[in-house]
Amino acid sequence: MGYYKCTRKCVNAEAIVKKIVRQYVKRDPTLAASLLRMHFHDCFVMGCDASILLNSTKTSIAERDALPNLSLRGFEVINAAKAALEAACPKTVSCADILSLAARDSVETIYGPSWDVPTGRRDGIISNASDVLLNLPPFFANFTTLKSIFAAKGLNVIDLVALSGGHTIGFSHCAAFDARLYNFTGKGDADPSLDPAYAAHLRTKCKHGDLVTKVPLDDTLTGFDTNYYKFIMQNKGLLQSDAALLETRRSRFLVEQSTKPSIFRPQFARSMTKMGRIEVLVEKQGQIRSRCEFVN
Ligand code: HEM
Repeated sequence: MGYYKCTRKCVNAEAIVKKIVRQYVKRDPTLAASLLRMHFHDCFVMGCDASILLNSTKTSIAERDALPNLSLRGFEVINAAKAALEAACPKTVSCADILSLAARDSVETIYGPSWDVPTGRRDGIISNASDVLLNLPPFFANFTTLKSIFAAKGLNVIDLVALSGGHTIGFSHCAAFDARLYNFTGKGDADPSLDPAYAAHLRTKCKHGDLVTKVPLDDTLTGFDTNYYKFIMQNKGLLQSDAALLETRRSRFLVEQSTKPSIFRPQFARSMTKMGRIEVLVEKQGQIRSRCEFVN
């Protein structure tokens, strides 16, 4: 904790990130969701090493250009924080730490919980689009798949249910649940596990095959509340992976418990700290990038 301050390498590093993130998120609160998701997508693919921020090159397509990452926003927030840090303490603060701190600070800014972010991560130098689909859970995942993908990253079912609560903020494109509305088994039917009235409401927002429209993942776009879990309990989980949390007795119990903010918020915080430690690079591993989009 407080690596840059304790080692006196960059005493104000964390304060600089917080100030910039707050500025951006106050102006556009929907950025919080994207920065949170960016951290998740970074950590699950090659560990929390900022590989998500690297640009594609002439010879390789980077993670950020893989399909699930095309809807990420907020790269400019990370770049602004990095520029301020390079001015204050050149070549010292990793992009991986900036992203991890930014996820925390952005959720804090919209009155979500705060959590510990240990620092001292270093930046990776590899980023391949092909690793993304191999490591990120797909939106149509069932519980067994979700559980095993999270287990592969050292995260248990408690973490899975808590971190899925990230969907209490932000949007989904219609495409991610189109099949649930229009063609679930290939016979033009809706997903029977989705509340029929809610499905009908969603069909008014999303026409079949709509690739452009976005809808909130729960009823409050930027409210870090527990409505996400209340929605799931009412069979109104938007994605199949959200609804899948009702599949087992244990996970259903955890969803039910998570409708209480006094359970959800501290558990989300603990699980975020844990997620932020996935396969991190430290000490002599990796590098400290001068610009987050490029290896040195
Ligand atoms: C459990 C497996 C998960 C699956 C299958 C999944 C899938 C998705 C999908 C399909 C979207 C919609 C993206 C779009 O259409 O633009 C989304 C959005 C989002 N996800 Fe997840 N996700 C999962 C877990 C997580 C976790 C662990 C977090 C963070 C802790 C998270 C945070 C978010 C946020 C905040 C958004 C909204 C992004 C925005 O508004 O820009 N998700 N997710």
